[in-house]
Amino acid sequence: MTSQTAAALYPAHLETLSARAAVALERGGFDHLVVPSGTLHYQIFDDRDYPYAANPQFKAWVPLVRNPDSWLVFTPGERPKLVYLQPRDYWHVVPDAPSGYWVDHFDIEVVRNPDDALQHLPRNATRCAILGEAQSALGRYGAFAPNNPQPVLDYLDYHRAFKTPYELAMMREANRRAVRGHRAAERAFRAGASEFGIHLAYCQAVGEDANELPYNNIVALNTHGAVLHYTERDRLPPKPVRSFLLDAGASHGGYAADITRSHAMDRGGEFQAFIDAIDRAELAMCDQVRAGVDYRQLHLDAHLALSGVLNEFGIVTCGAEEAVATGLSSSFFPHGLGHGLGLQVHDVAGFAASDAGGTIDKPEGHPYLRLTRELAPGMVVTIEPGLYFGAVLMEDLAASDNARLVDWDRVDAFRPFGGVRIEDNVICTDGAPVNLTREEFAALA
Ligand code: GLY
Ligand code: MN
Ligand code: MN
Repeated sequence: MTSQTAAALYPAHLETLSARAAVALERGGFDHLVVPSGTLHYQIFDDRDYPYAANPQFKAWVPLVRNPDSWLVFTPGERPKLVYLQPRDYWHVVPDAPSGYWVDHFDIEVVRNPDDALQHLPRNATRCAILGEAQSALGRYGAFAPNNPQPVLDYLDYHRAFKTPYELAMMREANRRAVRGHRAAERAFRAGASEFGIHLAYCQAVGEDANELPYNNIVALNTHGAVLHYTERDRLPPKPVRSFLLDAGASHGGYAADITRSHAMDRGGEFQAFIDAIDRAELAMCDQVRAGVDYRQLHLDAHLALSGVLNEFGIVTCGAEEAVATGLSSSFFPHGLGHGLGLQVHDVAGFAASDAGGTIDKPEGHPYLRLTRELAPGMVVTIEPGLYFGAVLMEDLAASDNARLVDWDRVDAFRPFGGVRIEDNVICTDGAPVNLTREEFAALA
């Protein structure tokens, strides 16, 4: 994305945020929205800091992800203010003076010490909705402390699901980067690299260090693909290398991509055919990302479609309906179909019933689903079906009534490959969905 694109789209983004913030403040009965960027956290009994993570409520306004102890102040009807910490420090690199397409839209106060921010914040803390972590408190006895009013958070978080054109452009760019990494990682896999080596090849191609990525890369060879959040990185490849599951994203201006691809070393073998079948099912699911569709239904439909694949490959001996009705499909597809995506890889408010609170429950028997809302234009969701042959779940299945519905020889044939997941980032629109991930893969081809 060019900086002209961002510059062209940013004013309308800021206008949308300002309008949302004005209503949120009204809901909570406050005059000002105040958002600290967050602080550094330290390891216990040590002077080592953890990687800094910007407050998502802060980076929604400005694409700053390396600026702890800065503050955003918004008062309806006034220009937003940014209190920007630029310390005098010879131990660390200090942030550059603010620059870029967004700065002209703010009144900017540069401070040299974190405590100096206080003089630029509204006088009366009780009139402020202050959104952040307790540790950001300033003033005597922490008088200016985050209060995180629920009505304000409910409103902002609910509406954050609907991305502005600026945000969609940022997420497309994050996808573009991640796709570059996926291509490099596949090359490294085919060349025989270890998980650690593939991870390094990925970071190099994306141009991001591990701490800059939106989540910890899942780089899994062979049976490791069955461990849903496998974040070890073996220094040596297994022998032989059969399969590769990569769940890895990228960040751009504070926005995330979240992409998974699965590969078979033998492109002519049965595991490749299994991946292809799941890929076809996944594409059909992505096509259902349409306004008015209940995401819970998409998740349940995914169980049916994946059960069809299990049946087609002779892994289950029953029909797809029975595999879903008995709960058998959950032994192979044990996670949710996906989630909202944006400033956070698992975006907030996935269960929000309205912008004034309330919860839409998960379907019975599906505890790991992260999104239960009805889809609407502007939402970006992941679609990430998977089928796995994990040791724990297969052991539990073997000991259950459903064991009789499984061809265990077929399970044993697939076990050494771990599992398959395919994950795309999809925009819901007024019409056909836009698959950011597929479009960026196609553009790179
Ligand atoms: N990478 C985490 C997820 O797919 O939800
Ligand atoms: Mn993922
Ligand atoms: Mn995901």
